[in-house]
Amino acid sequence: MTDNAVLMVDGQTIELPIVEGAEGERSIDITALRAQTGLTSYDPGLVNTSICKSAITYIDGDKGVLRYRGIPVEQFTVQPQPNFVEVVWLLIFGNLPSREELKIFRDMLTSHELLHEDVKDQFQHIPADAPPMAILSATLNHLACVYRKYLVVDDPERLLEVIASLISQVRTIAAFSYRRSKGLPFIYPNPNLRYCANFLHMMFSSPYQQYIISPEVEDALNLIFILHADHEQNCSTTTVRAVGSARANLFASCAAGVSALWGPLHGGANVEVVEMLERIHKGGLSPAQCIRDARDKNNPFRLSGFGHRIYRNFDPRAKILKQACDRVLQITGQRDPLLDIAFELEELALNDDYFIERKLYPNVDFYSGILLRTIGIPTNMFTVCFAIGRLPGWIAHWKEQNEEQGGRIIRPRQVYVGNNLSSYVPMEDR
Ligand code: CMC
Repeated sequence: MTDNAVLMVDGQTIELPIVEGAEGERSIDITALRAQTGLTSYDPGLVNTSICKSAITYIDGDKGVLRYRGIPVEQFTVQPQPNFVEVVWLLIFGNLPSREELKIFRDMLTSHELLHEDVKDQFQHIPADAPPMAILSATLNHLACVYRKYLVVDDPERLLEVIASLISQVRTIAAFSYRRSKGLPFIYPNPNLRYCANFLHMMFSSPYQQYIISPEVEDALNLIFILHADHEQNCSTTTVRAVGSARANLFASCAAGVSALWGPLHGGANVEVVEMLERIHKGGLSPAQCIRDARDKNNPFRLSGFGHRIYRNFDPRAKILKQACDRVLQITGQRDPLLDIAFELEELALNDDYFIERKLYPNVDFYSGILLRTIGIPTNMFTVCFAIGRLPGWIAHWKEQNEEQGGRIIRPRQVYVGNNLSSYVPMEDR
């Protein structure tokens, strides 16, 4: 293997170094390209661009491999299932927490779980039917108003406090936004409950009636959060990195991540999938029509929950969630016709030339919505649950970038294709 790539351009030959990752993946380092040739690289959608070196998550999209800090995600799904809070620590700090670290972190999550009253009061001024993702993004930014001492993070202890506040309060904010949308009283967090159970409690308990949390439901939510916890340079994480690269604080950077995640091509796909399955169930659409529409180049319809920038094989998260849907439905004795429809759609797509040629497989969003539905989460909270799960990933990337020596602001180039030099024409002459 050569150490350099050779580029010939305009009669000039230059050598560009090749950077090699821990798993042997190789990338041409074009840092010096413009200085040496006057050229930039053109890569819409950053399809071929590695924007950083990162030690957090490894994906092999051809083999369907996903690892957090080297550990295959499948290992987080076996019983007794690890807790999401352990995964949060692992992603952010790089190692599985010791017993003592986990206890300290859990205690911090508990002591930071209440929202500041000013933040809580804000919910009264938000329209009841406001989308919870808008509320989540706005409220994460609002935390910057009340935790101003955290805006400059200059020591590890303070950073730990900011992280604990965010990880803990994101649940409270999410649950309060749901209660607000239903016109229900807020349920305060219960310090005796574990992370997922506490979220379910704030979502579904009433002031005088405790919601009974079944272990299966708690485990399923824990699994969903774990499987969403990080996915390297996806759209929202890259957004968090871009905002953080300007040295913006963690609240602002994560709020931006929520906004990116909201889009239907990203985290919003879990809502689109269930809405599509519901339309099929109600008879408004057939699975075969879905496939025809998805294939039709004149139709903007895309089969939500299918396809991925990186995976050209099964998304390992989709495999795990598919099995989890089946298992949880069996345990809880429910039947969900949407799951049968999803199986049928998957079967049709996987045997269709269009999907085969383009290597389009189910992604994480294809089955996550059905599982969230099974455990009683309303559709408008699906992407919010994705955000709760993804928050540790955003924080881990923000922290990694912030700690990098000589890190630079993310500021790409463009190829300008607009007017050549033109003149301003006064209004009376136009
Ligand atoms: N339905 C129909 N055609 C598709 C789909 C789909 N779901 N996904 C990709 N294609 C086609 C696309 O039209 C293109 O065809 P052609 O080569 O003929 O122009 C080809 O497959 C390659 O697609 P692409 O748009 O170049 O791929 P991308 O890497 O830019 O986009 C994606 C990835 C996930 C945005 C896209 O697959 C998609 O829109 N999927 C549906 C939305 C979805 O499920 N999003 C969740 C992604 S996973 C979790 C997350 O990130 O939140």
